[in-house]
Amino acid sequence: MCGIVGYVGPRAATPIVVNGLQRLEYRGYDSAGIAVVQNGSIEVRREVGKLSNLVNLLAEQPTNGHLAVGHTRWATHGKPSQQNAHPHRDASGEIVVVQNGIVENFRELRESLQAEGFEFQSETDTEVIVFLIALHYAPEGGLAEAVRKALGYLKGPSAIVALTSREPDKLVAARLGNAGGVAIGLGDGESFIASDIPAILEHTRRMIFLEDRQLAVVTRDGAIVQTLDGQAVRPEVHEISWDPISAAKGEYRHFMQKEIFEQARSLTDTIRGRVDFAAGEVYLEDMPLTAERARSFDRAVIVACGTSAYSGLVGKFMLEKIARIPVEVDYGSEFRYRDPIIDERTLIVTITQSGETVDTLAAMEEGRAKGAYLCSIVNVIGSQAARMSDGVIYMHCGPEIGVASTKAFTSSLVDQYLLALFLAQLRDSIGPLARQKLVDDLARLPELAGRLLDADANTVYEDLAERFHRYRNFLYLGRGINYPVALEGALKLKEISYIHAEGYPAGEMKHGPIALIDRDMPVVTLAPQDEVYDKMVSQVEQVKARSGIVIAIATEGDEFIRSRADHVITIPAAPPLLTPVLSVMPLQRLAYEMAVRRGADVDQPRNLAKSVTVE
Ligand code: G6P
Repeated sequence: MCGIVGYVGPRAATPIVVNGLQRLEYRGYDSAGIAVVQNGSIEVRREVGKLSNLVNLLAEQPTNGHLAVGHTRWATHGKPSQQNAHPHRDASGEIVVVQNGIVENFRELRESLQAEGFEFQSETDTEVIVFLIALHYAPEGGLAEAVRKALGYLKGPSAIVALTSREPDKLVAARLGNAGGVAIGLGDGESFIASDIPAILEHTRRMIFLEDRQLAVVTRDGAIVQTLDGQAVRPEVHEISWDPISAAKGEYRHFMQKEIFEQARSLTDTIRGRVDFAAGEVYLEDMPLTAERARSFDRAVIVACGTSAYSGLVGKFMLEKIARIPVEVDYGSEFRYRDPIIDERTLIVTITQSGETVDTLAAMEEGRAKGAYLCSIVNVIGSQAARMSDGVIYMHCGPEIGVASTKAFTSSLVDQYLLALFLAQLRDSIGPLARQKLVDDLARLPELAGRLLDADANTVYEDLAERFHRYRNFLYLGRGINYPVALEGALKLKEISYIHAEGYPAGEMKHGPIALIDRDMPVVTLAPQDEVYDKMVSQVEQVKARSGIVIAIATEGDEFIRSRADHVITIPAAPPLLTPVLSVMPLQRLAYEMAVRRGADVDQPRNLAKSVTVE
């Protein structure tokens, strides 16, 4: 979703800001802009569409300064247009603001500002912020004081960066609620601001993260942080260890392709250092949970959005089976509005790649207010979800750039497996032998993933994609632990290829979807050899009896399924609880090959954002 990058220092600011925005492109956006302080005034350039359009505009109308802020906008209030793009200026043109988030009361604010004579140039909610700052600007308090006062009027989550040509040595950043992060990068005689750390990681690894209701005055010498009530804050300086090179696409055509193929490695990274394979024990370094507290849980609630929510549906099987704890799974956006029954005996597990998804964060807040233990499974280090949690299990799968999540899905499955084992240890829910077996199963997983990803190169996927990429509807069927995988497979296809696809529990097919089956709707069936294999075969027969086309995901060596299905993709035999980690990979690859043939923008599908920081 929206991205922010700011710079102050001795170097030319524009290339640093534009380059940073490019690194945030994966978040999704539909216009972009930059404001640069140049010879005592502010130059603003804004353009609709891709960043390359802004880059072209900057080539025609260059800017030259040492203090700048840029923004990529994902439209919420007002269509993508030059006027609606950030940065927004006040009437004097001497103050500008960029914002992530939503001003929920912007209509009232806009009306009262209009009554005071302010003339709005855009349809955005953001413009009220710049006018409020202008209204409260006084030379003695300066920009920081004006921002503080302006934020006092806002309802809803906002992260903003403001600058003024009257104080050309500073940027003011502030955060209200959860509208995405605000990271401040501390360099040598220069400072950076970014909504997401990959934007500035090539310049510095020393970062401060603003918390809710904090404001920072950022100069080339660093940042002074205060609360919005004016209390001084001594922020923690984090050392970020991500390697920016690993965020590069390398030899792959798309980030999504790279992320699919690196899963053997990412799974190894997720497991590494957390399991004593000889002792059959799991260690989770950032989960300070006592056995007493772990035993007090009477249920767990997994809350997440999108792909992460489907991961949670798989995790339910793991936690119930291994840790013997009843589990409920819900979407963040549903959970927050149903007055959920939670108390201090509830373990809330949130799963979020970005750690910034607003609905997931809201669910955590709800849990916190009711005394639940908050455990989060997160990829982005230092993200809001990680910071809010009592315990964190990082995915450790490296930056995921493709909007459609792949390696974070499989790493989050492994994290839930680790969590289940960890809870089992603390709650004594399974014996040492059973635990040792589960740990041994996990040890084999990366190797199985590697074999699956190397096998038969791409040909089976290329052939299937060639044959089916013009079809308009797909049905995905799964059962038991592979039912969520069917949901995820269908989601991957719709997200990146824009083909309508529906995931369904196989047993429910006869209660509706069977009416749709014909030669025009291929049915992708997850049929590994597990305890529901026979039932899946009978679903395949039912589809075939109605002239449907079946693409089966089956276990290596299963000859029987070949006589029933039209097309078969095989996966290595794996222990039942870990099969989804493998069975999803062919579905990721299939969706990818279809999207490529349809000429779709695989890494940045239309209308989607990597990190959804609005409701
Ligand atoms: C967006 C992304 C999805 C992701 C979902 C949840 O919709 O496009 O790929 O699964 O958000 O994101 P999170 O960062 O919380 O896992």
